[in-house]
Amino acid sequence: MLIDTSRANLLITGGAGFMGSCFIRQLLKDPLFTGKVVNLDALTYSGNLDNLKVFEEDPRYLFVKDNILNQNLVEKLLFEEKIDAIVHFAAETHVDRSISDASAFMQTNVLGTTSLLEAVRKYPHVHFHHISTDEVYGALGDTGSFSEDSSYLPNSPYAASKAASDHFVRAYGKTYGISTTISHAGNNYGPCQYPEKLIPFIVTQLLKKGALPLYGKGDNVRDWLFVEDHANAVRLILEKGRSSEVYNIASSQEITNLGLTKLIIKLFARKTNSDIEELESLITFVEDRPGHDFRYSMNTSKIANEVGFVPKYALQEGLSETVSWYLENTSWLKNVLNEEYDTWVESQYEACK
Ligand code: TYD
Repeated sequence: MLIDTSRANLLITGGAGFMGSCFIRQLLKDPLFTGKVVNLDALTYSGNLDNLKVFEEDPRYLFVKDNILNQNLVEKLLFEEKIDAIVHFAAETHVDRSISDASAFMQTNVLGTTSLLEAVRKYPHVHFHHISTDEVYGALGDTGSFSEDSSYLPNSPYAASKAASDHFVRAYGKTYGISTTISHAGNNYGPCQYPEKLIPFIVTQLLKKGALPLYGKGDNVRDWLFVEDHANAVRLILEKGRSSEVYNIASSQEITNLGLTKLIIKLFARKTNSDIEELESLITFVEDRPGHDFRYSMNTSKIANEVGFVPKYALQEGLSETVSWYLENTSWLKNVLNEEYDTWVESQYEACK
């Protein structure tokens, strides 16, 4: 066993974000979890403590607001909180933002990750799990899937920054003997996702009957993974994975962006008694994203065979839960739809001005 996650003290970076907060909620909801969760998050634009409100008073939980680049603080936490493993979620993740300005991606994803690794060098008993993405492998055509042995061919500044951080994790493992694991996830979706990403963006636009801008012809293909499945997979890797190994996490449920948008519209219309055709007329095809990866797909036999991960959520079911969550959590959404958000959307999409 790599880590006994039900008793471990875990430092979660980016735990106020979409994927990190789901991982923390799963742990703290588990009555058998007797360890400690230290959530280190800088609370930049997409970090949101509302995601963890119910656990604020939980004695197993500690929140620390700071940047992963603060190496002295990370070392102090590793020592004082007797940390057994770091699960590194903190990252800049939005491709479109990386196209506008890559500097924050270099800072957080590359320098931030190496700063954490430097801290682990001083506490070499600490295991380091790195959350990465399928995007480091580049794009596929209509057929085929990436495996853990596929070459790195990142196409966006975001993917390049994650690729660089993956290489540092590997290199620190090889050079300094740090125990590491890396997971590459497909597109995550679910509750609490900041509405710059396709699925919550579509729901947000539907709520205000705004344009639904799809790049190109909407025929790019993504493989969508429900965030609860992702969190479960990461926990299984920590428990049953092997040190120095890399695992792909996907649900093998591929769909075009247009097909997905129509599915969201169908669910949204059913839940709000709206007219499907009227909502579909909001779809607007816009100029393609530069370097837009056509398709992502990953072979998941390694994670299935080695740690026993099987996704539980069918796409339709996860999407239905997600749409309902956004409809029921209007105050969460209202808090994130601030001026900064509006400025971003307007700068990004002419159709949304
Ligand atoms: P996104 O959620 O940004 O994830 P990624 O680019 O990392 O896969 O986008 C998912 C897909 O949806 C991607 O092919 C880009 C496309 N997309 C649109 O067509 N319009 C949009 O407004 C957004 C946000 C994404």
